[in-house]
Amino acid sequence: MDLGLGGKKALVTGSSRGLGFSTAHQLAREGCDIVINSRDRKNLNAAEQEISADSSAKIFPVVEDVTQIEKANEIVNKANDLLGGLDILITNTGGPPTGSIDNLDDQTWQMAVELSFMSHMRLIRAALPYLKTSYAASVLTITSMSVKQPVPNLLLSNSIRGATIGLTKTLALELGSEGIRFNTILPGFIRTERVLDLLAQRAEANSTTVDQEIAKQSSQSPLGRIGVPQEFANVATFLVSPAASYLTGGVFLVDGGMYKATY
Ligand SMILES: NC(=O)c1ccc[n+]([C@@H]2O[C@H](COP(=O)([O-])OP(=O)(O)OC[C@H]3O[C@@H](n4cnc5c(N)ncnc54)[C@H](OP(=O)(O)O)[C@@H]3O)[C@@H](O)[C@H]2O)c1
Repeated sequence: MDLGLGGKKALVTGSSRGLGFSTAHQLAREGCDIVINSRDRKNLNAAEQEISADSSAKIFPVVEDVTQIEKANEIVNKANDLLGGLDILITNTGGPPTGSIDNLDDQTWQMAVELSFMSHMRLIRAALPYLKTSYAASVLTITSMSVKQPVPNLLLSNSIRGATIGLTKTLALELGSEGIRFNTILPGFIRTERVLDLLAQRAEANSTTVDQEIAKQSSQSPLGRIGVPQEFANVATFLVSPAASYLTGGVFLVDGGMYKATY
């Protein structure tokens, strides 16, 4: 199937590693020109080189912190200038810290809101004028399975990420008439630095090893394993492509069946 992504212009934030990187890489293989983003120049340049070595797409690194209020506009404007337009926006960042109600202070809660909600909202708001001029406009927010089923020791993620689902769904309803599609993916446990860090924390707390914690988490999936970033990227790439032209307002789990409820 031709996904229709050739020549499309995409901004993927939080894309020097993990889910964002893998998705940017796959979009490049499908013929998109891409602005990639993260806070660390060295890592972002390495990501740019790895993607460029594997595709003829144009890849532009933009080093910025998406939680800085004024930076969302800057990132989006720069992306539009570098790419000569914008068809696709994928809003992704790192995850908030672990912790419980007793040890997370107000400042940490506020920072988590900036990271896991406000950054998505500001990036989308800044991108709308450009997306409205595209014939294949699509927005994908990356959130977490935690909005459906709380993940142990991730109180911040469990509490805050639902707001991004509300944002995504509302904008799908309000802006469909302008030809912009909005969807969200809820990853479960995909093997990235973030997930390995979380499992290392569990190993320390439980006096086990990371491999034992991977095995425990894998047993939660009917497929018997955690996922790999390419499996996430395949779904993300399809969702933002013109081939998914009748999908909007969708909330898609990529969790290997770990979420057990029917709905
Ligand atoms: N992997 C999973 O299975 C899973 C499951 C549920 C939810 N999620 C969520 O999905 C998102 C991506 O997950 P991941 O596992 O790929 O995370 P990851 O391995 O930590 O990668 C996060 C990426 O975002 C960048 N980043 C972090 N903070 C940023 C900021 N303020 N501004 C710009 N870039 C920033 C990081 O680079 P720098 O640090 O250099 O900036 C990196 O490129 C996270 O929010 C995570 O919590 C993931």
